[in-house]
Amino acid sequence: RRAYTTHSQLPSEHQMVYEMCRKFADEELSPNAGKWDKEHSFPTEAVEKLAELGMMGINVSTDHGGSELDALSYAIAMEEISRGCASVGVIMSAHNSLYLYPIDTFGSDELKERYVAPWTGHQKDGAGRLRVGCFGLSEPGNGSDAGAASTTATADGDEWIINGTKAWITNAHESSAAIVFATTDKSLKHKGISAFVVPMDAPGFSLGAKEDKLGIRASSTSNLIMDNVRIPKSNLIGQPGQGFKIAMQTLDGGRIGVAGQALGIASASIDCAVKYALERHAFGKPIAEMQTIQTKISQMTVARDAARLLTWRAAQLKDNKEKFTREAAMAKLAASEAATMCAHQAIQILGGMGYVSDMPAERHYRDARITEIYEGTSEIQHLVIAGDVLKEYKQ
Ligand code: CAA
Ligand code: FAD
Repeated sequence: RRAYTTHSQLPSEHQMVYEMCRKFADEELSPNAGKWDKEHSFPTEAVEKLAELGMMGINVSTDHGGSELDALSYAIAMEEISRGCASVGVIMSAHNSLYLYPIDTFGSDELKERYVAPWTGHQKDGAGRLRVGCFGLSEPGNGSDAGAASTTATADGDEWIINGTKAWITNAHESSAAIVFATTDKSLKHKGISAFVVPMDAPGFSLGAKEDKLGIRASSTSNLIMDNVRIPKSNLIGQPGQGFKIAMQTLDGGRIGVAGQALGIASASIDCAVKYALERHAFGKPIAEMQTIQTKISQMTVARDAARLLTWRAAQLKDNKEKFTREAAMAKLAASEAATMCAHQAIQILGGMGYVSDMPAERHYRDARITEIYEGTSEIQHLVIAGDVLKEYKQ
């Protein structure tokens, strides 16, 4: 199929996702995002509505209750939702690309029935809560060096016994199931890691305190603590020892989602700055007429649009089942840097009003920062990109 580079070129299915998410963000997310951020409150109702729109199972097949949309739709949806509220963006991305994807792609039919279908936004749990999922790779002792996992999985009859702590886990407090990476033999390094689905009401499973974060404050982030947690043997995803590759492939797709989130923050920053520049007068004219302000508007737009092209390229390669690891890392790197720069310059354009919470610019600035850290820091994206370039030259 042809490569799409602008919204106006998109096929009708993608246009529909774009319009639907844009409207939802404008009507339900943007007006409330500041309040959720201030109160550190999980936006339960908004996430339930997002589920009704089919966005909490966006890439899962319709057979399992999902919307069966492609990666490009996902990138577009993530940008629009995050333009409205970056916290809702990460809640949606951790659930879709980090929880649902690995089970749906590598899991057995039985695991898909038990842990995908009920998590696609149409069924609630016994307590009437929407089912949300999370992804536990990082640990207190290792984040970037994901292959150094020290959480253990020990086979015992028909069960696995899981012991260890996963750190910084998004959606921890709202989730009822977690993907957990654990080693069955630490001497094998990354080849000893396996992936499991762990129900979070299992005896021995507990949560740490909620982290008090700089940004994305409406999403919860906590430790997952597992003390002799017993799960059925069948909760292994894929083959024993396949866990590290499952994590890496999951993150390839996840990075497209974070790129989308960063694009949304960049776009929200541009909206806020341009509208303000047209209204605010200094020296007898709107500041939008000052050339130094125009340079900022231009730089912000170029960075956002360039990053969007990279993001759509990565998504379209994924949809075409081509290699996209390098391209997803490039998209995530460029989009997160664009978000940080756009949010920084938006505050500059707003002057004093950029520095206070009456306007959303300061929230965008705080929310943008995490996109350069999670799902692989910028330094790790450089390693992935350069590693792939060097491999090509060495061939
Ligand atoms: N796809 C498939 N396989 C891959 C792969 C990929 N993208 N990347 C690596 N592999 C394979 C390699 O081919 C290699 O296979 P063999 O053993 O068969 O040779 C194996 O994995 C090991 O590869 P490396 O030697 O390159 O691994 P490494 O230990 O040097 O680590 C890394 C590479 C890229 C730095 C990796 O550890 C990494 O991505 N770290 C960052 C972790 C991260 O992003 N964490 C995010 C947590 S989730 C999160 O943050 C959630 C949120 O935002 C909400
Ligand atoms: P470190 O790995 O200790 O890195 C510290 C510094 O050293 C960084 O600047 C890093 O880039 C640099 N560095 C490390 N290695 C290298 C290298 N080889 N070359 C050059 N520089 C290097 N994790 C999950 O598993 N699931 C989640 O849902 C999740 N959500 C998160 C939500 C939030 C809000 C946060 C803050 C984190 C979340 N994470 C999650 C963890 C996140 O993925 C890690 O914080 C991230 O991967 C970095 O790991 P670290 O914090 O241990 O930093």
